[in-house]
Amino acid sequence: MTFYKQTIKTVPLEGATVLLRADYNVPLKSDGSIADDFRIRASLPTVQYLLDNNCKVVIMSHLGRPEGNDPKLSLEPAALRLAELLSRQVYFVPETVGDRAKMAVKRAPKNSVVVLENLRFDEREEANDAEFAKQIAEASGARYFVQDGFGVVHRAHASTEAITHFLPSVAGLLLEREVSMLQGVMEAPKRPLVAVMGGAKVSDKIALVQRFIEVADTVIIGGAMANTFLSYKGHGVGKSKVEDNQKATLDAIYEAAAKKVGEENVDSFLILPTDVAVATEISPEAGRKVVPVDSVGAEDIALDVGDASIAAIEAKIENAATVIWNGTLGYAELPNFANGSAKLAEALATQPATVSIIGGGDTADFVQHWDPKEGASFTHVSTGGGASLELMSGEKLPGVESLLDAGGKVEYTEIKEA
Ligand code: 3PG
Repeated sequence: MTFYKQTIKTVPLEGATVLLRADYNVPLKSDGSIADDFRIRASLPTVQYLLDNNCKVVIMSHLGRPEGNDPKLSLEPAALRLAELLSRQVYFVPETVGDRAKMAVKRAPKNSVVVLENLRFDEREEANDAEFAKQIAEASGARYFVQDGFGVVHRAHASTEAITHFLPSVAGLLLEREVSMLQGVMEAPKRPLVAVMGGAKVSDKIALVQRFIEVADTVIIGGAMANTFLSYKGHGVGKSKVEDNQKATLDAIYEAAAKKVGEENVDSFLILPTDVAVATEISPEAGRKVVPVDSVGAEDIALDVGDASIAAIEAKIENAATVIWNGTLGYAELPNFANGSAKLAEALATQPATVSIIGGGDTADFVQHWDPKEGASFTHVSTGGGASLELMSGEKLPGVESLLDAGGKVEYTEIKEA
């Protein structure tokens, strides 16, 4: 699939100062250190490409959802981690706009990396404030804006949308890869395409379930989401997590499935677990007991797909040319209930001829930790949670749409050198 936006490879940025939007919204440990640097590692090809082209790279990102200035959510630890990964000095500036930020960026040597403070310390970021975006562009002294924060391009914020009105704006390599992979696999997949959906809520993923019904050859449902389906089908689910008021949604899902494959084929197209692993409490001590879906006791909580369901999933995967996986199949934080997800990860990792696309968020976290190769056993592990969900659901993402088109130019206000 051809990417439809200009990228850092299609514009002349040799020696330029560039403003790079990354998504360094990384999980933190209680001591404030970085728990998982996946998103920082994923930004390295773009940063390195820009350095190789003699650019000064000014990086901005958000971290968490602070209310005003919150030192616990400073981007300094991310800047330090980036320095370690690049094996070079990174200059951290504890501001995002204003004269001090501008001077600090200016003083940083040519061909260096600068990281600005958390954008969300300023409420104008999430308000998509044009004046704030203009001030960031001015402070950076950049000639180009590069969008590479795939995880945040579903947000129309100052650093993802308004900024593109002030600087010529192009995609970084991570953004290009994410969009090409996720959109490509939905639009022109190698078939058979098997979609595996898990996670907690159907309501968060209705658009994606609907889209999978349109494009996939088989849709497999697991995770807590499966309880809502099983309950809709009349199975007792005990004390399992079930989402209320989903009848109309599930009616629509089953109607769309029947329209596609015929009433009699729905259950072999939209596959639910036939057995589940249950416990009576959610705790590390809880043992794994597997029961058929029609034998879930009144006190049981379904926490994973059962062994027969796993075997059925493995059989489907074996014949798939493409698998898209979004949402863990069980309560994967507890090792006893990570079995379904682990078996699926293993099936994908040992089938390299199958294109395997792993959605971001919890699923990406799971495979990163499961995989000794930190995700390299799969074709693509997305860095975006909400962004990957929206993109695969067929939605337009403001942070992508606002970039310069590959074939043309959009209007922007040039910032004059001070
Ligand atoms: C994410 O982690 O999904 C992105 O960084 C966006 O963060 P947000 O949901 O706080 O906007």
